[in-house]
Amino acid sequence: MDPSLVVRPFDVADAAPLTALLHAAYAELGDRGLNFTAVDQDVATTRARALAGRCWVVEDEGVLVGTATVSLPPSTALQAMSEHARTPRRAWLNQLAVAPDRRRRGIAGHLWSLGRRWAREAGATSIGVDTAAPAEHLVALYAAWGFELRDVIRWEGKTYDSAVMVRQLLGWL
Ligand SMILES: CC(C)(COP(=O)(O)OP(=O)(O)OC[C@H]1O[C@@H](n2cnc3c(N)ncnc32)[C@H](O)[C@@H]1OP(=O)(O)O)[C@@H](O)C(=O)NCCC(=O)NCCS
Repeated sequence: MDPSLVVRPFDVADAAPLTALLHAAYAELGDRGLNFTAVDQDVATTRARALAGRCWVVEDEGVLVGTATVSLPPSTALQAMSEHARTPRRAWLNQLAVAPDRRRRGIAGHLWSLGRRWAREAGATSIGVDTAAPAEHLVALYAAWGFELRDVIRWEGKTYDSAVMVRQLLGWL
């Protein structure tokens, strides 16, 4: 990742610009009919989701260009939907996004590296993620990061099934 970019923890003052970043990043998924929450979530939802775990933002001269959140444990809503979210010491990767004009430069990879290191240090022994099963490029990206498919769930109000994927954190990062 470009070393001139600043990676720092989310601050509540970021909630509005972070919402704009999420809308821009997830628009392509929305255009495909995949109504991810981040396609059109409001600022309060962004704030709540960021504060539900450890959230990082990537900044370029004051402009937010990337974000990721890792929760430990996963949300109670997710735990109610999948046994794989109820496994003890399991973290969850959420709200990953990179601005469309900043892609393929390692920003998401850097956030993933930070997120899994934080999870490990916080006591997690594994980490999960859920994403739209029809978004094959995302399922492939998480598989390349070591995640394995464990479950398929359907969030209320969503137009798609979600793939639940899990990766161990023991032994290697
Ligand atoms: C998915 C997303 C976060 C990736 O961000 P990024 O900064 O471009 O990713 P990186 O440059 O760090 O690349 C990560 C890896 O994915 C690969 N990759 C990234 N985009 C890819 C694409 N469109 N097709 C194929 N491979 C891709 C890269 O080659 C890289 O592989 P490596 O780790 O082996 O080098 C970004 O495309 C995005 O914000 N998408 C919209 C929102 C979204 O889908 N969020 C996740 C929802 S679950």
